[in-house]
Amino acid sequence: TWTMLNIIDEQVERIREQVGEGRAICALSGGVDSAVAAAIVQRAIGDRLTCVYVDHGMMRHGETDQVRRDFEAVFSDLDVVDAADQFLDALAGVQDPEEKRKIIGREFIRTFEAAEVRVFGDLASGAQATAYLVQGTLYPDVVESGGGAGTSNIKSHHNVGGLPDDLQFELVEPLRTLFKDEVRAVGEQLGLPPTMVWRHPFPGPGLGIRIIGEVTRERLDILRRADLIAREELTAAGLDRDIWQFPVVLLADVRSVGVQGDGRTYGHPVVLRPVTSEDAMTADWARLPYEVMETISTRITNEVPEVNRVAVDITSKPPGTIEWE
Ligand code: XMP
Repeated sequence: TWTMLNIIDEQVERIREQVGEGRAICALSGGVDSAVAAAIVQRAIGDRLTCVYVDHGMMRHGETDQVRRDFEAVFSDLDVVDAADQFLDALAGVQDPEEKRKIIGREFIRTFEAAEVRVFGDLASGAQATAYLVQGTLYPDVVESGGGAGTSNIKSHHNVGGLPDDLQFELVEPLRTLFKDEVRAVGEQLGLPPTMVWRHPFPGPGLGIRIIGEVTRERLDILRRADLIAREELTAAGLDRDIWQFPVVLLADVRSVGVQGDGRTYGHPVVLRPVTSEDAMTADWARLPYEVMETISTRITNEVPEVNRVAVDITSKPPGTIEWE
């Protein structure tokens, strides 16, 4: 539409003024916000933009391949970093949700710093005076973190407040005045693929905060198989666009008794957490059709032998949050 074209033109011009002949770097999460921000910046400065995507080993089934495929088609300079061992080693033995989040945030920074050095060289040597960092910050993000001191800290989002002071970053944030629906409209206007534009929000720490308890490769593997089934069935029912997001949570330290055939099982529960929302600040539990829930439950307990019970979370936000950690 006209308005979205206006927003794009205005931002492209502003970015050209800000960055001049410089280079910029953008951390892509796979989500729509960073993708749209990067696409606008690429329109402004072309191949002087480098995109970095970190696979921390806690993405969903097939996700990194999908991101690589989608993004390579759009962004000429994409750096996919496999950092799974680094993240999972750092998380070994850790159970506390905030501790997990801080570790993941810290490892993101380390990975990203290495990428910065590759792109900008040693800044102190004067190769480029300013390192430009593209972020997909939206208006609600600005509002939510606006207070700074005194702002209640419910969860430490992995990408907030963690950038090291000794790297002189200047932020490029073309989406700062927009809401999610506008970002999606801009993304469509820019011609980004629907898988990118309509992807459900997915937290930076990934499945790491959907495993209640220690994160291990085995547990990630169980959750990935259950999560894939839930996603497949939601899509098959044509409900993707009715749902804000659909976390599946593994209660990895809980076991319950079940029975299958003649055999007793002693497996783990998973919790389905489909929610509707406008901006993630508040949310309601989604009334998924019973048939869809039934299919998901049957398939998970048949196809994922480690799981013998499927529960549904019917808590709104507040008092619950969307993610369990
Ligand atoms: P909560 O669980 O706080 O989540 O209701 C609100 C929204 O934020 C997402 N989320 C995150 N996104 N990094 C992110 O990029 C994070 O650390 C993070 N934690 C939660 C969550 O998926 C939901 O959309």
